[in-house]
Amino acid sequence: MKKILVTGGLGFIGSHTVVELQEEGFEVVIIDDLSNSSTDVLDGIEAITGKKPVFEELDLKEKADVERFFKKHHNLSGVIHFAASKAVGESVEKPLLYYENNINTLVYVLKEILGLDASNFIFSSSCTVYGQAEKMPITENAPVQPAESPYGNTKQIGEEIIKDTCKIAPKFNAIALRYFNPIGAHPSSKIGELPIGVPQNLVPFITQTAAGLRESLSVFGNDYSTPDGTCIRDYIHVVDLAKAHVIALRRLLDKKNTSNFETFNVGTGLGSSVLEVIKSFDKVSGQSLNYKFAPRREGDVVSAYANTDKANNVLGWKARLTLDDAMLSAWNWEKKIRNL
Ligand code: WQD
Repeated sequence: MKKILVTGGLGFIGSHTVVELQEEGFEVVIIDDLSNSSTDVLDGIEAITGKKPVFEELDLKEKADVERFFKKHHNLSGVIHFAASKAVGESVEKPLLYYENNINTLVYVLKEILGLDASNFIFSSSCTVYGQAEKMPITENAPVQPAESPYGNTKQIGEEIIKDTCKIAPKFNAIALRYFNPIGAHPSSKIGELPIGVPQNLVPFITQTAAGLRESLSVFGNDYSTPDGTCIRDYIHVVDLAKAHVIALRRLLDKKNTSNFETFNVGTGLGSSVLEVIKSFDKVSGQSLNYKFAPRREGDVVSAYANTDKANNVLGWKARLTLDDAMLSAWNWEKKIRNL
């Protein structure tokens, strides 16, 4: 049974990926510093798959601890690296926290992986690297624009670090998955998104408003150059996104990659406006969400949705779940954690 390390494996996307890995017969070891998650997630994973993954609480900023970990777990077949801070707004207020937590940790992990026999590495990147792309849908060779936030910059720098590592280590194979907007929860409602404090992202704010935790949703701007005036994004169900990680890992394990650094957009290829997301929520929940229009949010791009040809035809992955599926799963998860 191949052993895979998942850093940040108790997080939103990490936990859903661990479920898919275990269901595909991989042995999983999770590292997480619990800064933005809890060990309850392990119970959720076990409830779904019948197996509790090995978990080690570890702060990847502690270089010596990272070295100790890899001495103990030297028979890894691959690493999927989620561990990072990911709040755009927070990164503007605390840039050094983001550079330390997202960059130093990546360097420490990469240094250890180079010592392994088989070094197969999946990197959690983001469509943020494209900034406001000129052309929709966005392809992988769209120019990387100057980052709008330190968070986005850490993803761009992360990809450059990996690329430079691949150049000097031909045995090191990496794939960067550029996520669009991950939303939703596992259909079992045993795991899902656990935003701490006031949610920054649209969908958890919608479900918390519907659950009565928030007064109303503020729609940040309805005067954009889009059909209904609100921003457009590519909302991808987190389970589809998780499956993309397993398929990308298998591509490296089976040595199907055509170069030792590849990037893939992971999205549905469909753009949905904020109002269309609200409409989807109302449809699947039978509610009428309380929202109001508010001024634009600093740093928002007008439109971002993926060209998924490369993921579909080269990686062999395609999103299967719809916006309605994702909104229903998000609502069911919210009701579960609020005992509604
Ligand atoms: C989506 C749309 C908002 C909240 C960010 C990161 C990206 C990734 C996903 C980590 C925008 C609007 C939102 C609200 C609103 N994160 N909105 N009211 O900004 O596209 O992407 O999260 O990897 O890297 O950049 O996602 O969910 O914050 O916003 O109107 O209360 O919803 O203006 O148009 P975003 P989001």
